[in-house]
Amino acid sequence: MRRLEQHDLDSTINWINNPEIFITMGLWGPRTQIEQQRWYERIAVSHTNIVFALCLSDTDQHIGNMSLFDIDLRNRNAGLTIIIPNEKFQGKGFGYEAVYLLCEYGFDYLNLNKIYCKTDNPHASKMYNKLGFVHEGTLRKQAYRFGKYVDKLIYGILRTEFVKIKY
Ligand SMILES: CC(C)(COP(=O)(O)OP(=O)(O)OC[C@H]1O[C@@H](n2cnc3c(N)ncnc32)[C@H](O)[C@@H]1OP(=O)(O)O)[C@@H](O)C(=O)NCCC(=O)NCCS
Repeated sequence: MRRLEQHDLDSTINWINNPEIFITMGLWGPRTQIEQQRWYERIAVSHTNIVFALCLSDTDQHIGNMSLFDIDLRNRNAGLTIIIPNEKFQGKGFGYEAVYLLCEYGFDYLNLNKIYCKTDNPHASKMYNKLGFVHEGTLRKQAYRFGKYVDKLIYGILRTEFVKIKY
């Protein structure tokens, strides 16, 4: 887990421009290089939207991104996003480990009290449940996906609910 760097943008734009991915992310459509660069210049210096690259520890291969967004230091909460676009790397526990580390960063370093997210992906729901996130509600027919409307489930975890792994 490290901050997303300029040299990661080529892999990031390749994922985002896959329709399965940009639709999941709620974007308008494929991103241009200019949009991507402007997005990066905003997030590279932001303290309220921190984007991390997920990399394999042995080879440093960049396999996904995750973020804490809308970091609110008065109410001490933030939203969370994660994407591991390539099926080859899904279902291997990387998402679980990454979200664990992101929560640890949010609670221990940023002193957050709550982290929340929303998803319509059943694998993500399973992962959030295993990490101790609580289903707080459902946004009915919230997103349009390939011809139909789907519900988005909201999950949240409080600092007191986060179970630390002892290394
Ligand atoms: C959702 C996502 C972040 C989960 O990360 P991951 O590394 O694939 O998930 P994990 O391996 O940590 O496991 C989560 C659970 O879902 C299951 N799972 C995840 N992806 C799976 C897949 N493609 N096929 C079958 N099972 C899968 C895992 O087996 C695990 O369940 P288990 O603990 O009972 O075995 C990742 O799959 C992803 O980015 N998917 C596509 C994009 C997306 O929907 N992102 C939005 C998330 S809010």
